[in-house]
Amino acid sequence: MDINTFGVIGAGQMGNGIAQVAAAAGLSVIMSDIKQEFCDNGMATITKNLDRMVKKEKIKDADKTAILGRITTTTDLNDMAKVDFLVEAAVEREDLKFNIFKDLDRICPEHVILSTNTSSIPIGRIAAQTSRPDKVIGMHFMNPVPVMKLVEVIRSIATSDETFDITWKLSEKFGKTPAEASDYPGFIANRILLPMINEAVFCLYQGVGKAEDIDTVMRLGMNHPMGPLALADLIGLNLPPAIMETCTTDLKFQMALPVAQKICGSGLAGKKKDRQRADLSKSVLCILCLCVVSVSWFQVRSCPPDQVVLRSG
Ligand SMILES: NC(=O)c1ccc[n+]([C@@H]2O[C@H](COP(=O)([O-])OP(=O)(O)OC[C@H]3O[C@@H](n4cnc5c(N)ncnc54)[C@H](O)[C@@H]3O)[C@@H](O)[C@H]2O)c1
Repeated sequence: MDINTFGVIGAGQMGNGIAQVAAAAGLSVIMSDIKQEFCDNGMATITKNLDRMVKKEKIKDADKTAILGRITTTTDLNDMAKVDFLVEAAVEREDLKFNIFKDLDRICPEHVILSTNTSSIPIGRIAAQTSRPDKVIGMHFMNPVPVMKLVEVIRSIATSDETFDITWKLSEKFGKTPAEASDYPGFIANRILLPMINEAVFCLYQGVGKAEDIDTVMRLGMNHPMGPLALADLIGLNLPPAIMETCTTDLKFQMALPVAQKICGSGLAGKKKDRQRADLSKSVLCILCLCVVSVSWFQVRSCPPDQVVLRSG
């Protein structure tokens, strides 16, 4: 399938970065937002990024003009009827994304792949809002998009192989390295990252360390390029609580069953059946306790947005 025109829903922090990399890869881009002012802000950010690249001699002035010339903006979602592939990067709210996908399903021709940059909302639930769940997929870019190499490609149970392959190849065309993830809460990136950020916030809250010290420990001690509190600032402080909320709600229901199934289906009954049966029941008990503790941990550690106050730079 030829992808010439690429749609981006949302001209914010992520949307304008995605529009920039798509245009830099030679695609015509239509970027939409709810107000022209937000589209203009997105274009201003792209222009600033490209100016910096010209200054650093990473691209020529003519490249900058060509990239900007390939991006148009709109406040009319109906313009997405012209795109071959799109990524939704509106705010992280399930109800809002559901409505956007219902509209896009009506507006876009049948063959168009509808991807989402959601940080945590299950792809399957978004796909269920459309009549083409096989063509809905997660295309999770990292922030800042023009700089970060990773795209997490998330397939739901309904995503077709064709949709997956097209999205994977498109990520590569954008100069990114894709990684495959399944449709579980937080996928890979945020399932691992968010508990760490949450723990850093708790360290700050409990006075275990000052913001600067918490970030210094993680930068110099763990070799992270940026401390978790500075990273939370970069992501946007409204986002981590929203992601944790989705992850904790979904994990509560999803954790126990696969773990128990894995143990029971692991074929432990071998030569030493009796002892293993006893061991197995002990293991099941341990794992179930672990599940209860983990779920409680996620619940206790999930911060309401109004409690997250960071001072890290
Ligand atoms: N910020 C990050 O570090 C990061 C990283 C990866 C993924 N994400 C995800 O990307 C998405 C966008 O995040 P962001 O940080 O760019 O948010 P943002 O608030 O900077 O931008 C969101 C934009 O969406 C627009 N919008 C809202 N409703 C819309 C609609 N109906 N149609 C079109 N546009 C609409 C808003 O006006 C805003 O400009 C979220 O799902 C977020 O979870 C964010």
